[in-house]
Amino acid sequence: MGTSIIKIKNEHETEAFGRKLGASVKAGTVIALIGDLGTGKTTLTKYIAAGLGVTEQITSPTFTIIKEYRTGRCPLFHFDVYRIGDIDEMYELGYEEYFFGDGVCIVEWADLIEELIPEDALTIRITRGEGEEERIYEVT
Ligand SMILES: Nc1ncnc2c1ncn2[C@@H]1O[C@H](COP(=O)(O)OP(=O)(O)OP(=O)(O)O)[C@@H](O)[C@H]1O
Ligand SMILES: [Mg+2]
Repeated sequence: MGTSIIKIKNEHETEAFGRKLGASVKAGTVIALIGDLGTGKTTLTKYIAAGLGVTEQITSPTFTIIKEYRTGRCPLFHFDVYRIGDIDEMYELGYEEYFFGDGVCIVEWADLIEELIPEDALTIRITRGEGEEERIYEVT
């Protein structure tokens, strides 16, 4: 289980990274996104979705925790757990059906529900680099 550090210079590189990941990711994968406000978790999700073939517009699920998209080559479940009060909310919405199902799950603020993230998840830690647009991705 290796870690790679990827320097993303601008949003175009986020797009290229996201589209490539979306095109290659296996159904059943959980992608855990960890990074501060405005580091680009939703933006990256949009490009991963595009790579999966999702044609609907992706909007932040902050107030709903989860949004489903069914127009790609497999279902996409987009979680944003920023406002989760308690881990029980994840059980109430039946997260196991999603995390261990046949879709791709992308989880923003995955560090807030760390204990529920499967061992084999793809984790992307995003931090800011130099300037407004640079980001560092630590992919595990
Ligand atoms: N390299 C980059 N990758 C992604 N977004 C970038 C990049 N450079 C600049 N941005 C800008 O940063 C902002 C990222 O916002 P976004 O909503 O994706 O962040 P977020 O991590 O989802 O925030 P939140 O924690 O509020 O959910 C966007 O306005 C985007 O245009
Ligand atoms: Mg977001």
